[in-house]
Parts: sequence; C-alpha cells; structure tokens
Amino acid sequence: MSILWSMLLFQALNLFAQQPGKTDAIYSGLSWYDQNGNVVSAHGGNIIKEGSRYYLFGESHSDTSNAFEGFNCYSSQDLYNWKFESVALPKQLNGKLGPNRVGERVKVMKNPSSGLFVMLMHVDTLGYKDQFVGYATSKNITGPYLFNGPLLFKGKAIKKWDMGTFQDDDGKGYLLTHGGIIYRLSDDYQSASELLNQNISTGFESPTLFKRSGIYYFIGSHLSSWEKNDNYYYTSSSLSGPWKFGGILAPKGKLTWNSQSTFVLEIPGKSDTTYMFMGDRWSYPKQHSAASYVWQPISFAADSISISTFLQAWKINQVSGKATVKALDYQMLLSNNKLLKYAGRWVDTTINESPVMRSIDSKSSLSVEFIGTQIGIYGLTLPDNGYARVSVSNKSGKILVNTLVDFYSKTPASQLIFLSPILKKSSYKLRLEVTGERPNWSDKKKTVYGSTANNISLSKIIIK
Ligand code: DGJ
Repeated sequence: MSILWSMLLFQALNLFAQQPGKTDAIYSGLSWYDQNGNVVSAHGGNIIKEGSRYYLFGESHSDTSNAFEGFNCYSSQDLYNWKFESVALPKQLNGKLGPNRVGERVKVMKNPSSGLFVMLMHVDTLGYKDQFVGYATSKNITGPYLFNGPLLFKGKAIKKWDMGTFQDDDGKGYLLTHGGIIYRLSDDYQSASELLNQNISTGFESPTLFKRSGIYYFIGSHLSSWEKNDNYYYTSSSLSGPWKFGGILAPKGKLTWNSQSTFVLEIPGKSDTTYMFMGDRWSYPKQHSAASYVWQPISFAADSISISTFLQAWKINQVSGKATVKALDYQMLLSNNKLLKYAGRWVDTTINESPVMRSIDSKSSLSVEFIGTQIGIYGLTLPDNGYARVSVSNKSGKILVNTLVDFYSKTPASQLIFLSPILKKSSYKLRLEVTGERPNWSDKKKTVYGSTANNISLSKIIIK
C-alpha cells in the first residue's frame, strides 16, 4: 500500500472513530445516538426485519409537550448502532394526528399478501378522551406512510388506547389492546375481522405478545401513567385462551427494571433463538432527551418467562442467535475520587449501602478530565432525584455529546445511566450540571407522579 493510501485510510478510520453513534452492545437505560449524534427517539414501538436490516419504529417526542410529533424509523444491522431513516409518519397538518393530538404505540408489520407495510397506532386527544386504533400504509418500509384513520371492526372504530400487534408464523396478523383483548386482522391487515379474545385483566396496558414452541406469552403493565410498574404475563396454547397467569417478569419492586413493555423481538439464529424484551423507560416531561430503552433477553423455564437479572450490557450474535453478557471492563473512579472536581454543594454519603456523592443544590456541577475512548456514569437513582445535563467535549472545547440524564426512579436502583459513544483515543472533559428540573406529572385523574425533588446521586465514573 502506498504512503498516500495508508494516510487516507488512516484518516478515514479516524473520522469513523470520531463519529458519535458508534457502540458495541445493547446498553439498557441510557441515551443512544444515531449516525448524526442525535438521541434515538423511538418509544412505544416495535422492530421488524427486512432483508438483513432491522427497522425500529417508535414515537418521536419533544421535551415540552405530549403532543404527537410523528413516528420515527431507524435501521440497524447489529441492533446496537441505529441510523435515522425518516419520520415515517409525520405530524399531519390537521385532523386526528394533527396539532395537539396524541399518537402512541406505533407498530409496523409487512402484509404477506400485498407486500404493503401496515402501521397501527393509538390515536387520541391530549387529554386521552378520544382514543381509537388508527392505521397507515406504505409501499416502502421507511415510508412515507399514509394515515387512513380508524381501523374498523364491523364498520366501527376500535375505541381503545394502549395497543400492540402480533404476527404469527402463518402470516396472520393480530391487534392487541389494553385489557388483553385480541382481534384477528383481515388478510390485508387494514381492518379487524374477528374478536378472538375478551378482556383478561383490568389495566394490562402496553400489551405485547410473542410465541415460542407453540405457547403464546402475553405481557402487559399495570395502569400507572408514565410511571414504571411490575409488568406481568399470561400464557396460552391458543390466542383465544384460556390464559393462565404466569406472574411478574422481573423481581418484585424492580418495576420491570424500570421500564414498560412495548414489544418482544424474536432473533433466530443457527444454534439459538433470543427473545428480546423491549421496554421503555419513560421520563416525563423530557421524553425526547431523557427517556431510554430497556432491552433484555428473556429466560425460559418450561412455560415460565423471566428477566431475573438486569444485563447492563449484552451482545447478540446475528449468526448463532446467541445472547452473551458484555463485561464492563473499565477503569473505575468512585464518586469521592480526587480526579472528580465538584462545584456547588455535594455531600459524600452512603444510601442503601451505596457510597454516593449527592448534590444538595440545584446549581451543583462536576467535571472530570480523562484520556481514553469512552466515559460513563453510574448513578443511584432515587425517588427524590431529578435531571442533570451531561456533556463530553474535546481538547478544543468542542462539545461531542450533550444529553439530559434522568436520575429519578420510584424505587432505588444502582445503574449505568450515561455512556458516551466510543471516541478516538484522546483527552476529553466530562461535565455534569444539575438542572434543577425533575420528572413530574399528573394523569387525567389528577394523580401526581414522579420525583419529589431535584437531587442527583453519583456512585462512580467509568473510563476506557
Ligand atoms: C401508559 C401508556 O402505556 C402510555 O403509552 C401512555 O399512554 C401513558 N400511559 C400516558 O399516561
């Protein structure tokens, strides 16, 4: 290879290494970045595979209101690095998905007979008082999808809010709604043709269904607005029941590892099949910047399922279908390490047997300079914690990552809550600023949810 070619290749590799968005595993509970360095915003959605690529559809959100912002589409080959493809269904100029409306829980399936992509979703008012299941269609997977209004059953709209879909291996499509109701879809998936299963359970929001070895697993959540709860499931050998209660998915009180179900993706391989639970870690009102994803492999024992341990990082082999844990072999700095420069008021304390630095005013900050390729933050999330802004900048002060991190959870949890993209080896500065804001909201019954204060509790910084 000539010197010129080697130089060009070196530069190209360097550029690639600097691109935000490069990651090497599935990391639950923290922001992901697309090829442009923007946060991946695709909640309440699903994934379908077309050719060798996975397509993720989900709700695009803003940080200021719950109004419909469109449904985004991203694609990936490895399920780690996501490329923004399009706003597959944009906010409409007017009408039921126009300004000041709600559009949620988007699910896309490819219809086997027409080859069209059919998108189903929950449509509503901002106050959740005009709900129905809507649908849109497109010839291309990435859209643009054409919104066709309500999906009809016997000529009438299906007036339900949370919904999901399931495509069986014979190509038949199903609509799931809260409560555990199941409709068979018509052959073209553009209407509902049969009511297969009546209500199983009160609540049972974010309905999610998959099949393994002839058993159907039906997962859903309790009704608690954007707050996380212990999601549970039923099993049956038939979609029309009877359904047997299976219990909760994750250990009691872990609130489904702080997430709410949205879909289960089957990843078949030559020697294994991984069933990946996809959940949303909502963060109201900062749903664009601070909501994240909890994707975990499901474990099976006879007809029971569980996610009994939380895998902070794991990999999926696309050939074998096997899921493996990724070790987080980073250099670790405890929160009271001298390299961490604190400003404002912090206390060095121990909460739930975790040593933490806890901010006690809303203007505190922290910075740390490091030489390496990646930096992450472990927090102890607590019921009175709020948001912090985290940025990573290079030697010239250019900000490479700038994101909002949510340190709140209803029950305490010790976890990685920020990880930078893999960068070119160099010196960088991480800065964390307490914003004085917190996740906090009320539902239509005026029940108040979320954090009670704006504190931050840091347990360690990891560097590679
Ligand atoms: C819970 C649902 O599962 C979400 O999709 C959303 O509708 C929130 N409720 C709104 O409070």
